Amino acid sequence: MYEQASHAMLNEILMELKPEIGNYRLRHFYTRLGANFYAIHSLFHLLYGERPDFKAQMVSLVETLAVRYMERSPPLRKSDLARERDYNWFLSQKWVGMALYCDRFADDLKGLRSRLPYLQDLGINMVHIMPILDCPPAHADGGYAVSDFFKVDARYGSTEELEALAATLKKRDMLLVLDVVVNHTSDEHEWAQRARRGEKKFQDYYYVFDDREMPDTFEETMPEVFPATAPGNFTWDEAMGKWVMTVFNNYQWDLNYRNPAVLIEMIDIILFWANKGADVLRLDAVAFLWKKIGSTCQNEREAHLLLQLMKDCCQVTAPGVLFIAEAIVAPSEVAKYFGEDAINAKECEIAYNATLMSLLWDGVATKNAMLLNLGIKHLPNKLERATWLNYVRCHDDIGLGFDDNDVRLSGYDPVQHRSFLIDYFTGRYPGSVARGVPFGANPKTGDARISGSLASLAGLETALEDQDPAAIDAAIKTIVLLHGVILSFGGIPLFYYGDAIGTLNSLEYLADPFRANDNRWLNRSNFDWDKAALRHQSGTLEQRIFSTLKKMIAMRKELSAFADFDNRQLLHVDNPNLLVFLRTDLHNARNRVLVVSNFNTEVQRLPLGALRPVGLFHQEAMRELCTGERIMVENDAVTVPPLSCCWLVD
Ligand code: GLC
Repeated sequence: MYEQASHAMLNEILMELKPEIGNYRLRHFYTRLGANFYAIHSLFHLLYGERPDFKAQMVSLVETLAVRYMERSPPLRKSDLARERDYNWFLSQKWVGMALYCDRFADDLKGLRSRLPYLQDLGINMVHIMPILDCPPAHADGGYAVSDFFKVDARYGSTEELEALAATLKKRDMLLVLDVVVNHTSDEHEWAQRARRGEKKFQDYYYVFDDREMPDTFEETMPEVFPATAPGNFTWDEAMGKWVMTVFNNYQWDLNYRNPAVLIEMIDIILFWANKGADVLRLDAVAFLWKKIGSTCQNEREAHLLLQLMKDCCQVTAPGVLFIAEAIVAPSEVAKYFGEDAINAKECEIAYNATLMSLLWDGVATKNAMLLNLGIKHLPNKLERATWLNYVRCHDDIGLGFDDNDVRLSGYDPVQHRSFLIDYFTGRYPGSVARGVPFGANPKTGDARISGSLASLAGLETALEDQDPAAIDAAIKTIVLLHGVILSFGGIPLFYYGDAIGTLNSLEYLADPFRANDNRWLNRSNFDWDKAALRHQSGTLEQRIFSTLKKMIAMRKELSAFADFDNRQLLHVDNPNLLVFLRTDLHNARNRVLVVSNFNTEVQRLPLGALRPVGLFHQEAMRELCTGERIMVENDAVTVPPLSCCWLVD
């Protein structure tokens, strides 16, 4: 948008830029800056307009964007232009992701390069390498306590090796996803150390207080993220002689985005990694970016303004790079991280679909799809040019963040139902085969979450111990069912590195004193390559899971109806155990797939009454895509096998 004040400001800033910037070929940079400047200026003004140094900060921001643009390599600039033309490229069904730890999966970055064939065998073409930046070995929070944002941790390799990996991935048409931990730093980061030494400039990078007055006021309304291991939101720092805000672990200092210098530093970091070849950046813990007395300090409006600024700035310098919002918040809040009132994403193009993830686990425990149907029905609309990251398990715990109203509509009491789920997944519920453990139990609120690997939560560990073939079969079916839903739902499916070979809980972490008190490590095991090799051996459980998932991935990529153009229609069927939706290719309505998932351990009937109004089953039987079998109609209903996700076509 053209707006006089912004335009005048832009002209002034361009005059003030360092002379070398003016001399450089910046054609596309200036076009994009011109297009985005009104938004950048207005947002920056909303947040920092009252400051006397507002203009100097604006100059510093624009300079950062220009310097990083000059550094951007010609191939990346070319890819930016191509993605600008083909702006819906990431909504295609062709993308299938996997999250992995480079050391646990393949020792280091070099090793990861040599392990790419495993990923390609499965059909993965988007690799999220969990955080690899410099971290103190003792207090790392799995890489999320960064002490140097510009350096790859020597344990994993070097920045050059990362660039080489990025280049290899590009050649293989695979995407690279990297983390940017935007909410906090390690207490060993240089900014924290200088704050500790008394430098006021760096104390202003954090929320630092002389006494308990402000921390106590904040605490009145702030929930705790790790109540069991890191209670409270503030930590006394002896060397600094002050309290510092630490929402996560006590060694993770929350950044103060009320200070524009912090935002500019972070935008610089984002662009640095964009320039190293990342296609997608996962912005960690974005719900927490803005702290306000009297609030929960989550999902604040200003957190959204900051993300919009990050996006607008990234579009000026590296427009081909996408953001993933890691916002594990209430269903009604999640979609806001795409940005509101727009068509294309104003904040992050992709967001973790934590709601679907927890609903799927509800289906596993209850063996029905009642809450799942309601939760999906009430999933807030997302923007046209934005998409979900659909996942079954990730490196973190499973939260039970359903909408209480949906829980009640399903006929459960919210408190009792959550406690049933905890009991079920920790194996305390009679008959439960799950092997999880409670995470973050909060005696004050009664809340808890769940840790454990997908296979162990799905009952595979128990079944193997019992040497019970029927139970092994049921666990494998559950693993495939859950992946069947994320592959067909609409969005980018994100696998987790051990899941395609049925990796069980790992107890290795208990021997490591720095990890022993964080049971999320149950699900962060060293990848077992001997076990992975069994995927080639017919009849092994590894082969049964891997080959089925591989087939489904290949199939997904062929189905234009699975691209994400808000083309999912949830069908109400008269059977609470089933989740049924129709995916239709908007360009060719004949290309459509009926996805039918049965969460029950018994065969279920899908009455045709619900399908005929959408034009299905008028004449012939349908065909299941992965097995190739024809689905027969009996007594005006389709028979759906237990624990299955069927993809049916006319
Ligand atoms: C994110 C990460 C989690 C980490 C937290 C704090 O939620 O996924 O692993 O502990 O941020 O950085």
